Amino acid sequence: MDIIRAIKGTKDILPEESSLWQFIERNIHRFMKSYGYGEIRTPKFENSSLFNRSIGINTDIVSKEMYTWTDQGENNLTLKPEVTASVVRAFIQHNLGKQKQLNKFYYIDSLFRRERPQKGRYRQFEQFGVEAIGSKNPEQDAEIISMAYFFYTKLGLENLKLKINSIGSKESRIEYKQALKDFFIPYKDKLTSTSITRLNDNPLRILDTKVDFEKEIIKNAPKITDFLSLEDKDHFNKVLFYLEKLNIKYDIDHFLVRGLDYYCNTVFEIQSTLLGSQSALCGGGRYDYLIEELGGKSTPAIGFAAGIERLIIALDNKVILDDSADVYMVTLGDSAIDIGLKIAYDLRMMCNLNVTSDMLQKNMKSQLKEANKLKAKHAIIIGENEIANKEVIIKNMLSGNQENISFNQIINYFKK
Ligand code: HAM
Repeated sequence: MDIIRAIKGTKDILPEESSLWQFIERNIHRFMKSYGYGEIRTPKFENSSLFNRSIGINTDIVSKEMYTWTDQGENNLTLKPEVTASVVRAFIQHNLGKQKQLNKFYYIDSLFRRERPQKGRYRQFEQFGVEAIGSKNPEQDAEIISMAYFFYTKLGLENLKLKINSIGSKESRIEYKQALKDFFIPYKDKLTSTSITRLNDNPLRILDTKVDFEKEIIKNAPKITDFLSLEDKDHFNKVLFYLEKLNIKYDIDHFLVRGLDYYCNTVFEIQSTLLGSQSALCGGGRYDYLIEELGGKSTPAIGFAAGIERLIIALDNKVILDDSADVYMVTLGDSAIDIGLKIAYDLRMMCNLNVTSDMLQKNMKSQLKEANKLKAKHAIIIGENEIANKEVIIKNMLSGNQENISFNQIINYFKK
C-alpha cells in the first residue's frame, strides 16, 4: 500500500531538531521581553479580503500564492500568508489604539504560501516578528531594525547585510510612479506580462521582479531618493544616523521595495551570505497607511518578520544543545520497576531533573548501554539486593564511580 507523505513544501520537525526550535523560541521570548514587546497570537486563517486589501492584489503573494477556499458557509477564507495584516485587524477590532498610544507586539507563527519549494523556501514556514503601532518617529524605525540585527548578532550570526531604502510617503510616490512609467514604457515589448499589468496598476512592483533581464533594465531606472519630500528625506536620514550610532552597518538599496504593497518610507531586509538564493533572513518596514486602509483610525506603524527555517540554515549547526538526561533509571524486576517509578516521579517533581526510565524490561547491560547512549549524567540502579537493603546504587556515568544511597536520602543526594 502507498504510504501517505507530508505535502510538498511542508516538513516534520522530529525531536532531534525540535530542541533547536525550542532554543530559538526561548531566545525570541526573552529577547522581545527585553524590549518591552508583548506576544500576540492570531488565528491561522482569516477572511481573504484582509490580505487582498493589505498585501495588495498585484503582489505575488495574493495573485498566485495564497491557500484560499470557500467553506460550507460560503465564507471566502485564506490560510495566513503573513502576520502583519492579522495584527492590524486585531488592533482595530479590539480598539487597542484607544487604550495605549503605542502598542508593541511580537509573534511566532506558521504561515502558508504556495511558492516553488527550494532550500529556505517552503509552503508552510515559521516566522517570528514584531509590530510597533503608534509612533511615526525615526527612533522607532531604528529600534525595529536594530532589534532584528541584534537578535541575529546575539545568536552569533556573522556576515549579515542590512539593506535599507525609503520608498517615501504616498505624496512622494505620485511623481515617482509617473517617472517609472515613463521609464518603462519604451521597454514595454521586452517586459513580462506580469510587469506590463504592474506598469498600469503599480509600477513600483516591477522593481520587485525576479526576472534577470528585467533586473538589468531596472539598473537604469529613476531612483525614489530623487523624489522624496524634505520630510521623508529628513526621516530617512535620522533613521540612518541612529543606526550609525548603534554601530550597525547598512547598504542603501534604491530599488528595494519589498513584496507587499502596504509599505511606505523605511523598508529593509537583512541578508546572510550563508543562505544562497533565498538570502533574506528577515524583512520589514513602515506601513503608516495600513490601519486606516483597513478601517481603523490613521496610526503610524512599523515592523519586521523573520523566517525561522532560514535562521536555522544560517546558524549552520553552530548551536550545541545539552539534551542529555540527568538520570537514567535502571530497574530489574517488578518490585524495582514499582519503586523506580516513584523515585523518578520524586526526582522530577522535587529536584526538577530530567529522568528517563527503561520501559522495555531490558537486562542490566542493555539498560546501562541505553543510559550511555542518552549521555545520562547518572544511572540509578535498583535490583533485588538494593530493594532488600532499602537503597539504590547511584552511578556517575562520567567517572564510573558508584555509591549506595538509602531510599530516604536520594532526594538530598541530588539536591546537593
Ligand atoms: P516577508 O518578506 O514576506 O515579509 O517575509 C519575512 C521573512 O519570512 C522573509 O525574509 C523570510 O525569512 C521568511 N519567508 C518568507 N517566505 C518564506 C517561505 N516561503 N519559506 C520560508 N521562509 C519564508 C512579511 O511577511 C511582512 N509581514 C514583514 C513585516 C512585518 N513587515 C512589517 N511588519
